[in-house]
Amino acid sequence: MDKQPLAETAVNQIEKVFGKYPGYRRAHARGDVYEGVFSANGAASGLTAAPHFKAGEVKVLVRFSHSSPDPTWTDIMSPVKGMAVQFQLPEGAVANIVGVNSPIFMAKTPEVFTEMLTIMKSFKNGKPRVVDLAQLIAKYPESRAAIEVLKKMHAPASFATGRYHAIHVFYFVDDQGNKRPIKYEWEPEAGVDTLSLTSAASMPIEYYKADLEDRLAAGPVAFQLNIILGETEDPTDDPTQEWPAERKKLTIGRLMVTKKAENAESVIFDPTVTTLGIECSEDRILNFRKEAYSISHERRTNGM
Ligand code: HEM
Repeated sequence: MDKQPLAETAVNQIEKVFGKYPGYRRAHARGDVYEGVFSANGAASGLTAAPHFKAGEVKVLVRFSHSSPDPTWTDIMSPVKGMAVQFQLPEGAVANIVGVNSPIFMAKTPEVFTEMLTIMKSFKNGKPRVVDLAQLIAKYPESRAAIEVLKKMHAPASFATGRYHAIHVFYFVDDQGNKRPIKYEWEPEAGVDTLSLTSAASMPIEYYKADLEDRLAAGPVAFQLNIILGETEDPTDDPTQEWPAERKKLTIGRLMVTKKAENAESVIFDPTVTTLGIECSEDRILNFRKEAYSISHERRTNGM
């Protein structure tokens, strides 16, 4: 019987399907880390005791990435892009928000995700085969919504024009201990803009990096941080489901990305790392990511 922890099986499975690239993250392999500043406007200070959401400024590291585990894929082969943010808190503590430009994920549980990796072999050429998708949806109807999002997805025109969602639910805990479910979303101040297929075809590799660095040379690249406030009937454990569109949204701060960070590639953006005033929900995918990211980090920083 297989005694391997599931997170290890999942990471091994990613390597089997997409290949092994020593020194690279096992997902979102190609990307770059930047420095920036987050300014909280205080709108969340009554909802959470988190120090970085009380009015004021903290330094951040931000990694923009292409989702493929294979770093040789061209930019456009990965329409899913990542924006991982690490808030630098007092005394060396950190808190992370890890987002992608999709509001939902395709698997509800780690077991399903790991099994899906086998079915998704044909993603190798950038696009899944229709027959594989049909097979996935038949087996896991809850995954239909995310697969539809993926099928229709156009890459953002720039890392600066993606809307990035942390997908999972977190709880904000206020100074009195009251808890409230929220979801995070980064809204680009440059506006959401996607690539047309014709412009995508003519894009050189590392287009996104060059574009971002051109923008940074002209000034900071900014995002608003929104939280979506959950109601009692909204699921808190299911990354395959969006909440109703009419849920209240609150802008709680502004992030300005300013320049490339030096020697930051080994940073681990574990989405379960939070701080006082923020708790992970019971979402099993969210909690599973902790171990998977740690295994990937250990391998890549040991030259594997
Ligand atoms: C079963 C679920 C998942 C597994 C097993 C998984 C696995 C991984 C692994 C192994 C890494 C590399 C970590 C490192 O070496 O630092 C990674 C990175 C990443 N993942 Fe996931 N992931 C999962 C779900 C998600 C979801 C739901 C999101 C959506 C927000 C996501 C977004 C990202 C991003 C943005 C990165 C790059 C982080 C960075 O820039 O360092 N992942 N993932």
